[in-house]
Amino acid sequence: MIMHYSVNKIPVGVLGASGYAGRELCAIIARHPRFSLAFATANEQRGQTVRAGRDDVTFIASDDAPLAKAEIVFCALPHGASLAWVERARSAGARVVDLSSDFRPGHGDAAAKAVYGMPELGSATRSAIASADIVANPGCYPTSILLALAPLASAGLVAPGAMIIANAASGVTGAGNSPKRELLFAEVSEDYRAYGVGNTHRHLKEMLATMATFGAAHADLVFTPHLLPVARGILSSITVPVVRELADATEPLRAAYPNEPFIEVVPQQPRLRDVVHRNVVRMTATMIAGTRAPTMLVTSAIDNLVKGAAGQAVQNANLMCALDECTGLPT
Ligand SMILES: NC(=O)c1ccc[n+]([C@@H]2O[C@H](COP(=O)([O-])OP(=O)(O)OC[C@H]3O[C@@H](n4cnc5c(N)ncnc54)[C@H](OP(=O)(O)O)[C@@H]3O)[C@@H](O)[C@H]2O)c1
Repeated sequence: MIMHYSVNKIPVGVLGASGYAGRELCAIIARHPRFSLAFATANEQRGQTVRAGRDDVTFIASDDAPLAKAEIVFCALPHGASLAWVERARSAGARVVDLSSDFRPGHGDAAAKAVYGMPELGSATRSAIASADIVANPGCYPTSILLALAPLASAGLVAPGAMIIANAASGVTGAGNSPKRELLFAEVSEDYRAYGVGNTHRHLKEMLATMATFGAAHADLVFTPHLLPVARGILSSITVPVVRELADATEPLRAAYPNEPFIEVVPQQPRLRDVVHRNVVRMTATMIAGTRAPTMLVTSAIDNLVKGAAGQAVQNANLMCALDECTGLPT
């Protein structure tokens, strides 16, 4: 592995570096001007060398990771496996950005130990991230859906007792890279299907718990994820009953995010092509014609591995290290 221990660089480590999110992290760290990769771990793929962005990276076993050498540890392990490793990294003195759901809102007592790492929710969130020891990096679907909903809820536009319907389609990297029969090329290509139907997906709890913090606790959310036969990207279509017709449905989004470097509010429909390999959420909103009650459709697109995982994790780590939030990130 090429290690960049330079005096001015901050050593960071990646647990679960052989996974899709972990590899993306290694690639971003390789071109980050202030971070250097102290270690990269794998489980079954330990010992293997791969190309991650600009550098070759050789994976070591997690038990061999020099946790104390890293100021920030990115934990990109499967949910369930993360909890113990985050505690180990903390005991070694590192601060942690955890990409799993283990410390996210709605996931039990561990959530109280972490700050939810969605900087665009506001300046109080940014400050809390900057001083956090553990940041729970948001899920990919929640990133695309919550950042679209927050401005409407905060502006009091969501109709009381509304049923919000979020249909979202993700590329197959969203499921990780451990072999699964239903994710074989022949099963996925030229097909399109829903999964986790009936509000059974793990991300629902995270979204409901976070919606309560920005004033949408009164609303129901029906979340249906779909599997899209592309490698990366999420497109979410979110139907929101609102309290009144708006002449310009994008206005509340633009008002909420006037200077956000990673949020693009646009008049046209966002496409996956607009966002892949970029750390952005691109969104628009439209009033729906022909309904009895005022209803808005918000569509948002992200790259699940960048703004939905590794990019947002580095954005949070930049804040934790008092760096410019955009440092080293693809916009
Ligand atoms: N993929 C996405 O779009 C996405 C988006 C947001 C958040 N996340 C979250 O990020 C985390 C990683 O996701 P991923 O998609 O990158 O998963 P993945 O491709 O399945 O990678 C999992 C990583 O963890 C390692 N690992 C698995 N079990 C382990 C264990 N018991 N002990 C130590 N290492 C272990 C794997 O090593 P080996 O491969 O060598 O076995 C691999 O490096 C998950 O919690 C996921 O929910 C993923």
